[in-house]
Amino acid sequence: MKKYNLDQQYVRDFAVENAIEAKHVNVSYGQHQSIFDVSMSFPRFKVTAMIGASGSGKSTFLRSINRMNDNIATVDGKIMYRDVNINDDNINVYELRKHIGMVFQRPNPFAKSIRDNITFALKKHGIKDKKELDERVETSLREAALWDEVKDKLDESALSLSGGQAQRLCIARAIAMKPDVLLLDEPASALDPISTSKIEDTLNRLKEKYTIIIVTHNMQQASRMSDYTAFFHQGHLIEFNKTSHIFTRPKMQATEDYISGNFG
Ligand SMILES: Nc1ncnc2c1ncn2[C@@H]1O[C@H](COP(=O)(O)OP(=O)(O)O)[C@@H](O)[C@H]1O
Ligand SMILES: [Mg+2]
Repeated sequence: MKKYNLDQQYVRDFAVENAIEAKHVNVSYGQHQSIFDVSMSFPRFKVTAMIGASGSGKSTFLRSINRMNDNIATVDGKIMYRDVNINDDNINVYELRKHIGMVFQRPNPFAKSIRDNITFALKKHGIKDKKELDERVETSLREAALWDEVKDKLDESALSLSGGQAQRLCIARAIAMKPDVLLLDEPASALDPISTSKIEDTLNRLKEKYTIIIVTHNMQQASRMSDYTAFFHQGHLIEFNKTSHIFTRPKMQATEDYISGNFG
């Protein structure tokens, strides 16, 4: 049997067009099926938005991409990441999540200092060298566009940050692990418009280095930020295309209805 290789350098050097390819994915919570036979690919170094009404399965599908549904739902089908099916039994989920990081809807910083929020997982993964830890703290806070606001208070509690700052800290925490893919589930939905636009700017810059998959129910946000858009309806992937196509000439009536607000 082929040896699984999730070594980070190997993954980065593995030249592929798509970061993730989902093939015939079904997800059920007990008897309740929430995702029906979804197949789609997420192009590398692009932003793909997943849109659709509340309950259409966006979060369920997103969580399947880094095994967050383990113990909650039954996921079948293949989700290929490089040459690995992440749903295989012998995948090390902690290792996988170093490659495929996640940011949730509500900012959820740990009740620790700003610095420790970033170094906590790094230390758990064996990084002890203070210089390296300091370097990762600064780099990830800069990438998340938070450094200037917090550089003089790294040892203060992260709970003192505003909602928008806390969410950028969560982004910094995710990218400090040097992931390949970043999953974001409505990362700005709990934030005010100014914080939202900062998050959008941050993500726009990050796409040079990461493949970004973002769930949003804000269609302006999807059209501003993403290169590709997937429209979900009642657990089905209805349409997937370049964002400009989805928003200007959708092929499916259901997509047209959703983007023009005639749904529900
Ligand atoms: N933890 C859960 N247990 C049972 N059903 C769930 C759970 N999470 C989501 N669902 C159901 O799965 C469907 C899709 O939900 P979700 O993925 O949260 O949609 P979205 O993110 O598009 O709003 C809904 O019918 C929802 O009720
Ligand atoms: Mg959701």
